Amino acid sequence: MSPLLVTRTLPEDATEAALRADVLHGLTRTPRTLPPKWFYDAHGSELFEKITELPEYYPTRAEREILRVRAGEIAGATGARTVVELGSGSSEKTRHLLDALSGLHTYVPVDVSESALTRAGQALVAERPDLDVHALIADFTGGLTLPDTPGPRLVVFLGGTIGNLLPAERAAFLSSVRSLLAPGDALLLGTDLVKDPSVLVAAYDDAAGVTAAFNKNVLSVVNRELGADFDLDAFEHVALWDAGNEWIEMRLRSRTAQTVKIPALGLAVDFADGEELRTEISAKFRKERVREDLGAAGLELTHWWTDEEGRFALSLSVAR
Ligand code: SAH
Ligand code: TRP
Repeated sequence: MSPLLVTRTLPEDATEAALRADVLHGLTRTPRTLPPKWFYDAHGSELFEKITELPEYYPTRAEREILRVRAGEIAGATGARTVVELGSGSSEKTRHLLDALSGLHTYVPVDVSESALTRAGQALVAERPDLDVHALIADFTGGLTLPDTPGPRLVVFLGGTIGNLLPAERAAFLSSVRSLLAPGDALLLGTDLVKDPSVLVAAYDDAAGVTAAFNKNVLSVVNRELGADFDLDAFEHVALWDAGNEWIEMRLRSRTAQTVKIPALGLAVDFADGEELRTEISAKFRKERVREDLGAAGLELTHWWTDEEGRFALSLSVAR
């Protein structure tokens, strides 16, 4: 069996420094914000896996259906020998694709969650002893350096995670992905599609409260890492549809007037009764928007596949 190789490009202290900077920046401005990558400590990654199994959360099932049905076509169109997956999480859906690529040599899962990467990587090397798995603990928004592996290379970004980036971040991200692609390489991108807002809101505000727990987990991370005293019960999970921007916005609403102390930053943050802290957006797409965003980054859309119900899309694009 080829061993699992794990490379850390995020030093632990840099992670800590980045968290401090993000929390200081986000909590001293109005409206207050916290950036989403801090959701995914080990507990957050477990909660996200539970979200993917919720009856209301359709994106994972819809995307898995497309991958299952189209894996052969994607393999034929790309002939990839290296698959690089950004924000790979459990890598669970990706199996369909990895199994369809007959010439596949190396799989490079990239994630900030070390626990998710190690678990997924160990499961994969056990199942696919023929495959090199080179996991990267890295921030996909931070200019990646990829291992030198055989091309063609297929960069995969699933889960609709691109929707969690603000439009300017999305544009910068796509340009950086474009810079990773040589002629013959491709990007496989998963995007959730605009649909009935009641379906969208339910997917981000489930009856069992798993998404609420996931959203609040970011407060636990700040408590643990920066010694803060956020009371999770004093905040309420809010998910709403922003029709102008066509995105779901996740917030945490203070149930009362309260002051939260963050000793590591020497900071005390006042929340008014009902004041909202923005934690994440999840943008929903139409085909033309995807084509334009890719185009602006120098990428050309070549394939577009949706699930049977038209809820979610996978697109394939190449460098222009
Ligand atoms: N691709 C998986 C997981 C999606 S959840 C799926 O489709 O089910 C988003 C994943 O991206 C999480 O595993 C999270 O840890 C990772 N992530 C979020 N922000 C990141 C960043 N800036 N850099 C690297 N990984 C990130
Ligand atoms: N990429 C996922 C999405 O936008 C992440 C996600 C799902 C999420 N549910 C969430 C992020 C709830 C924050 C809160 O669908």
